[in-house]
Amino acid sequence: MSTLSKSDLAAALAALPRARLAHLPTPLDPAPRLTAALGGAKIWIKRDDCTGLAFGGNKVRQHEYILGDALSRGVDVVIQGAASQSNQSRQLAAAAAKLGLECVLMPRRDAHFDPPQGNQLISRLFGARLEPIEATASSKQAKEEMAARLRAEGRNPMILGMGSERALMLAAVAYTGAYLELVEQLGAQGEPLPTHIYVTSQVSTQAGLQVGAMLLGHDVKIRGINPMDARSEAYETPEEIAQKCRAAANLLGFALEVSASDISNSTEWVGQEYGKPAQAAQEAAALLAATEGVLVDPVYSAKGFSGLVGDIRAGRLTADDRVVFLHTGGLPAIFSYADSYC
Ligand SMILES: Cc1ncc(COP(=O)(O)O)c(C=O)c1O
Repeated sequence: MSTLSKSDLAAALAALPRARLAHLPTPLDPAPRLTAALGGAKIWIKRDDCTGLAFGGNKVRQHEYILGDALSRGVDVVIQGAASQSNQSRQLAAAAAKLGLECVLMPRRDAHFDPPQGNQLISRLFGARLEPIEATASSKQAKEEMAARLRAEGRNPMILGMGSERALMLAAVAYTGAYLELVEQLGAQGEPLPTHIYVTSQVSTQAGLQVGAMLLGHDVKIRGINPMDARSEAYETPEEIAQKCRAAANLLGFALEVSASDISNSTEWVGQEYGKPAQAAQEAAALLAATEGVLVDPVYSAKGFSGLVGDIRAGRLTADDRVVFLHTGGLPAIFSYADSYC
């Protein structure tokens, strides 16, 4: 397809149902001390950890479209289940409270479930119904069974996260909007397009950014750093990410040709496994804190950030590159992982 103008893309986004939840636009900050410390590409940080609601993060932006769609279809209860330190669960419980939707959370009884700390603690403060599952149980299956039970009671539930193609697609659409916001901000700062955007993503955030760049015909490389690999139930392959790109573009009214070979998503920075701090990520987090006064969390954003640091140190990016690190948040998890800093 021929490329779109920014105003055409803005109009397509504006046509979709949306529940306003986030503080937008989030800041786009230059990171001069970090840039100097790494001695390579010029770096900016897009602060989606500052979306506001319930300590912020990328899911607040995503819930605007997911819950806007849910409300337009008469959904009356939302269901989410994941690791006990799920950021999405925290942000969903707050969004549901704000919008007057019932929320069922199905956290895994994993190592960070009890005593409640970080995301698990905060999630419990918004009045969500808590239905924990065993640490090794399938979240997808548990959510489907809960949805079936609620349907049998005459309710109209919607599953979020893994297992809900619709929710993952709408989450991607939100990040097409974020891409537009980002390029407008760079333009207003008199800066050209970035050469790269680095982001912690398993699927939707990366897919949405990719759709934005491709629809606008921008040669901006979207590099997703995955916090998990194929051992995790929620892992999505590059082909599945490409499929989410096609679906998101389609929802916006455009046919986009995108295949797995267009998707750069790396599992190189996972470390031992999902949910376990990794040495490279903890070192990268310390560097960011000491140079820019910005925190990242050990499960998601530090791992994504370590991918950027690693690529600069390996010479995969040069001083001519202009890179945006999109900070997806996750900060409450820090408190649940206090041991890994001592
Ligand atoms: C802090 C943080 N970063 C990144 C992600 C990944 O987002 P997505 O699934 O949209 O790729 C998550 C998902 O839970 C998250 O909590």
